[in-house]
Amino acid sequence: MNLLAAGTAVCDLQLLTEGQAQGFTLGEGEWPLRGLVVMHQGEVRAFVNQCPHAGHRLDFPPGRFLTPDGELLLCRSHGAVFDKASGECVAGPCTGERLRSLEVAVVGAQVQLTAEVNVDALVTRYW
Ligand code: FES
Repeated sequence: MNLLAAGTAVCDLQLLTEGQAQGFTLGEGEWPLRGLVVMHQGEVRAFVNQCPHAGHRLDFPPGRFLTPDGELLLCRSHGAVFDKASGECVAGPCTGERLRSLEVAVVGAQVQLTAEVNVDALVTRYW
């Protein structure tokens, strides 16, 4: 079982600026947890980096998560766009579905998981 403990560091807070997103990888094996953290209106949110449409990672090339205007998260495979706060798809092939959210908080200079994560249960394997 691939478990991540509460308190696991997701990223350094200094890597985040308002409106921007940062990718991360946690865990081991062929199926680690790939996620993204975004700061939106001063709040930090984290989501699994896996699109509900066809399971692709959102950022391709890696590290590019936003629409050109920076207002929404974008899956570059087929153009689904997601609200930064809720992870809800607001346009595209999976409208109404959501990115899976991760519980995180700012602790000192880090963004950390606030609950244990079972990576095997959270990541959908499409192949
Ligand atoms: S896999 Fe994301 S829009 Fe198709």
